[in-house]
Amino acid sequence: MSEEFKGKVVLVSGAGSGIGREAALLFARQGAMVFGADLSEKGLSETQELAREAAGTIQAALVDVSKETEVAALIKRIDQEAGRLDAAFNNAGITGGTFRLEDYPTDDFDRVLSVNLRSVFLAMKYELPLLKRSGGGTIVNTASVAALTGPGGMSAYAASKHGVQGLTRVAAMENAAQNIRINAIAPGWTETPMVIANSAQNPAFAELARKAIPAKRGGQPSEIAAAAVWLSSPQSSYVFGQMLVVDGGMTI
Ligand code: NAI
Repeated sequence: MSEEFKGKVVLVSGAGSGIGREAALLFARQGAMVFGADLSEKGLSETQELAREAAGTIQAALVDVSKETEVAALIKRIDQEAGRLDAAFNNAGITGGTFRLEDYPTDDFDRVLSVNLRSVFLAMKYELPLLKRSGGGTIVNTASVAALTGPGGMSAYAASKHGVQGLTRVAAMENAAQNIRINAIAPGWTETPMVIANSAQNPAFAELARKAIPAKRGGQPSEIAAAAVWLSSPQSSYVFGQMLVVDGGMTI
């Protein structure tokens, strides 16, 4: 494994599960000092245990990414403990329920927008000054193929992920000249706990979904994490403001 992130300080949100966990482990294996943020204490300690087995370290931060005071305190802590920030992967998210728009509970709509979109705004708002003081860096935000399509029943989720793409573009435009690259990833059907739980409840639907993917399988969290890590690395040094779709061909 390369030492591409040796000496770098990286923040990953949603590090207690799925895509965020795999990304945190990958950054740690490549030498980064990783701060893993999540709501789940149990998830974070499992990720830390996995990192120890791979001889890396992850600093756990119990944070609700939709709360401004908590995000501000997290960035302050990173500044105090590490003195810099080189890369952020703003990835925590939820799907919300499935309802036709006219039946969508307004409180649920607000909650999904808050966790998936407001969080990305807050994260970037507080990460950018520290990235600038560190001489530049990268941000990757997690959108979804739902940023490109209109999946029936998922108005809140699709709106939030379309919003993530918009925020990513604006932030990339505003900061490109300051040595800060900001991009997004758009995963397709990825076999994380979020999707596995839904599939267990509805196996016939899960089977149909997999068949509809040109690659005929769901993605592994590590395959999505690899794309996020690549966008955070110097290997993608001329990629600005893009949304990289990683979906087994689902949106071809
Ligand atoms: P997951 O459920 O395995 O992991 C999400 C993590 O985010 C969990 O550890 C959870 O505790 C944390 N989280 C949720 N709300 C939080 C909050 N308010 N503050 C801090 N942490 C919070 O899900 P997965 O699949 O790894 O999702 C990661 C991202 O990928 C999400 O943004 C999701 O929308 C996106 N995505 C996932 C797809 C999939 O098929 N799994 C497809 C497209 C996008």
